[in-house]
Amino acid sequence: MILKSIELTHFRNHLHRQLKFENMCTFFHGKNGAGKTNLLEAIYFLAYAKSFRAGNIAKLIYNNAESAAISALFTDDMDIEHTISASITKKKVFPLIIKTWRIHP
Ligand SMILES: Nc1ncnc2c1ncn2[C@@H]1O[C@H](COP(=O)(O)OP(=O)(O)OP(=O)(O)O)[C@@H](O)[C@H]1O
Ligand SMILES: [Mg+2]
Repeated sequence: MILKSIELTHFRNHLHRQLKFENMCTFFHGKNGAGKTNLLEAIYFLAYAKSFRAGNIAKLIYNNAESAAISALFTDDMDIEHTISASITKKKVFPLIIKTWRIHP
């Protein structure tokens, strides 16, 4: 499985960010607090539907925003593309929606 791109909206300190991963190996670099670990947390969230550090899911949402969203495009071992997305809100007990579907048959 290869992550090709990810888009974050109101996730942690990322108001809106789109990243494309065009090489097999990607390094994140930036100042302390820039949001590197938050990016890894977003990827982890899509994989496991939970954070590796926040007990309270509301902490994933940017400041006082109502919701956060993460979506990503990845290819599987057969090189078929899929998208996956998660919506995180403060209002519901299980505020998680994840959908995966094939783009190409
Ligand atoms: N819900 C939130 N809303 C807005 N900002 C947030 C939220 N949660 C965390 N942050 C901000 O995210 C920043 C931390 O991001 P992160 O831990 O990803 O940084 P980092 O680039 O990994 O830094 P370091 O190099 O120190 O590991 C802090 O500035 C923190 O205030
Ligand atoms: Mg970090």
